[in-house]
Amino acid sequence: MTHETGRLAADEVRGMFDRIAPVYDAMNRIMTLGLDQRWRRRTVRIAVRPGDRVLDACCGTGDLAILAQRAGASVVGLDFSPEMLARARRKAPAIEWVEGDLLALPFEDESFDAATVGFGVRNVAELEGALAELHRVLKADGLVAILEITRPRGPLRVFYSLWFDRIVPLLGKVLPGGAAYTYLPASVKRFPAAEALAELMRAAGFGLVRYDLMAGGIVARHIGIAGTFDRRHT
Ligand SMILES: C[S@@+](CC[C@H](N)C(=O)[O-])C[C@H]1O[C@@H](n2cnc3c(N)ncnc32)[C@H](O)[C@@H]1O
Repeated sequence: MTHETGRLAADEVRGMFDRIAPVYDAMNRIMTLGLDQRWRRRTVRIAVRPGDRVLDACCGTGDLAILAQRAGASVVGLDFSPEMLARARRKAPAIEWVEGDLLALPFEDESFDAATVGFGVRNVAELEGALAELHRVLKADGLVAILEITRPRGPLRVFYSLWFDRIVPLLGKVLPGGAAYTYLPASVKRFPAAEALAELMRAAGFGLVRYDLMAGGIVARHIGIAGTFDRRHT
């Protein structure tokens, strides 16, 4: 493992999230100045229709899955960290929470209308494998929505670097599981930029891939259709 490159083995990532689970929600709100729920709502708005069967992969403590359920979907939340899932379960006992790996989803082919991943794909050992699994479990007109931190290009770059490279790791020092907050900026640095992620999605078989940037380019929301026909937005 090395925190400098942001590369951790899967069991180290799982252990890290198990350890930070108690402070995860609070840290999200602090690090994003309370904007994270707005980004999740925007993701649900574009991805979820009432009545959809939705997979929220890397669901963590469940915030995105809960918003999808409120939008009228029947939701399955999946994560490989038992401690994150325990918190999700406590928040929304009625949602189906599944302990499992995004790289080997325990679901049949073409079994979901939509799949969401919020701040999750950055952490998986093999991004291409994760995209292939999401593609496999989506119906032909199913939609994937990926919300992820990305590197801004414009004027926010300096602020971003100060925040993520200096302040977030400092915050981590005073909180349990603090090493995670050194890992966070490193994992963002090695993650593909928004256009490169869009290309990987196309390579995985997604059609009509597009993305938009939020919060001055700090967060990207990518969407794609498992087939090529977008029945939702046409
Ligand atoms: C930064 S949290 C995001 C949680 C949540 N989606 C949110 O919006 O806050 C990333 C989550 O991905 C999970 N995760 C990472 N790799 C995974 C994998 N291969 N399979 C399942 N879950 C994974 C971690 O356990 C963690 O809960």
